[in-house]
Amino acid sequence: MSRPTATRANGSRMDPAGGPLAGRHVLLGVSGGVAAYKAAALVRGLLREGATVQAILTESAARFVGAATFEGLTGRPVHTDVWADAHTVPHVALAREADVAVVAPATANVLAKFASGMADDLLSAAYLCLRCPVVIAPAMHTEMWEHPATRASVDVLATHGVELVGPASGSLAGGDEGLGRLVEEDELLDVVRRLAGTNGGGPLAGKRVVVTAGGTREPIDPVRFIGNRSSGKMGYALAAELVRRGANVDLVSGPSHLAAPGGARVHHVETALEMREAVLRLVDDADIVVKAAAVADFRPADYHKQKLKKESDEFAEVVLTRNPDILAELGERKNGTLLVGFAAETDLEEERGRDKLHRKGLDLIVINRVDMADAGFGVDTNRALLLDVNGGRTEVPLTTKARLATMVCDQVEDLIERAGEHEGSDDL
Ligand code: PMT
Repeated sequence: MSRPTATRANGSRMDPAGGPLAGRHVLLGVSGGVAAYKAAALVRGLLREGATVQAILTESAARFVGAATFEGLTGRPVHTDVWADAHTVPHVALAREADVAVVAPATANVLAKFASGMADDLLSAAYLCLRCPVVIAPAMHTEMWEHPATRASVDVLATHGVELVGPASGSLAGGDEGLGRLVEEDELLDVVRRLAGTNGGGPLAGKRVVVTAGGTREPIDPVRFIGNRSSGKMGYALAAELVRRGANVDLVSGPSHLAAPGGARVHHVETALEMREAVLRLVDDADIVVKAAAVADFRPADYHKQKLKKESDEFAEVVLTRNPDILAELGERKNGTLLVGFAAETDLEEERGRDKLHRKGLDLIVINRVDMADAGFGVDTNRALLLDVNGGRTEVPLTTKARLATMVCDQVEDLIERAGEHEGSDDL
C-alpha cells in the first residue's frame, strides 16, 4: 500500500516517500522528562523526511505525553510495556526492524540503565537488542548531567558506539537555565539522516581500514613502564564510525578499558614495536590507515626481567632508545594507501602541521589540542584542525570525539572520491 501524500500547513503537498529518510525505519524511544513533548515534533520531522516511525514510551514518558499523541502521529501502536503482546517478543522485534534508533529525550535514569545493561522495561530491553546506529539525546537538569554517575554513564555509552547529541544550554524545567536542554529537532534530524544514509552505501563501504588507538606501554621491568595518557577514545570512535559506513575495520589497540566497537576486528598490542608489527602485517591489504594512537617515541633500551630495586643505579639511569616512527615508515613505502595521521599539539599551529603532513607522506592530518581539559587525552571531546593534501583546511571547535570521527570520515570519503575522479581523468 502506498503512503498517503501529506499536506503541509501552508497547503503545499509533500511526498514523504521521496524524502531523504524514505524507506528507513526509525525506532524512537521517549523517556520521562518535560522535553518529551518535543519528541512529538521530532516524529513529525522524521515523517516529513519519509521515515516510518515506531515509538516506545517509558512509563514516565507517558505521564508527560500520552501514547495517543504518538499513535496519532506515527499511525502505529505505541509500545510501553514489555508484557503487552508478549508473544511477539516486542523488545526483540522492534529493535530488529529499526534502521536507526533515536532516544530523545534520554533521562539520567535511561542513560544509567543503558550503560549498565539493565533491561527492566521495554526501552532498555530493546536497547540491548539494537544492532543499528543509535542516537541518544540527553535532557535533564544541569546538576544531574554533571553528576559523576551520569558522567560515568556517558563514558560507558561512548564505548557502545552510540552517538550522543547534546544536551544544549538554555531554559530548563522549573524556570531554570543551564546545560541540559534537549537539542533542537534540526540537529537530531541531521544526525539521523547521516546515520541512515551512510549505513554502508558510501565511498567507505567495503574499504579495508586499519585504525590504531590508545597509547603504547614500554616496559622497564615487570612492574613499571613508560606510557602516556591516551585512553583509546579517539581511535575507537573512528573505528565505530568507519564500521557504520560499511568499512572493513582492523583496530590495532594499545591497552584500553574500552569495549571493542561492534563489527571491528581488534588486535591488542602493548608496545610500539608490537604495534608496528601488527600494522605492517595488516597494511598490505589495507586501503586506508588511520593512526590515532599515541605511540611512545622512546622505550627503555633494556628490559629488566627482575623488578628493579628503587635504590638501584640501573633504575636511576634507565637508558632510552628511539622507537621506529610507524607512520613515517608507512609514508615512505606508500603504495596507493590513503594515510591519515594525528598530531598531538599544544597549539593548532598550521605550518608545523602541514610540514608533518608532507614529511610523513599523509593525505590528511588531524592536529588536536592536548593542553586543554576538554580536548586530547582521556576526555570525550576534542578540538582539532584538519589539513589535507589538496590544501583543504577545516577548523573543528569543541565537539565530541564521535562527531570529530564523522568529520574525519567525511573528509576521507572526499579524498577517496577525488582520487577516483583523478583516475577517471587519466583514462581520458
Ligand atoms: O586516546 P584518547 O585519550 O582519545 O586521545 C586521543 C589522542 C590525543 C591520543 C589522539 O587524538 C592523538 O592525537 N593521537 C596522536 C598522538 C601522537 O602520538 O601524536 P604525534 O604528533 O606524537 O605523532 C604523529 C603521528 O605519528 C600520529 O599519527 C602517531 O600515531 C604517529 N606515530 C608517532 C610516533 C611513532 N613512533 N610512530 C607513529 O606512528
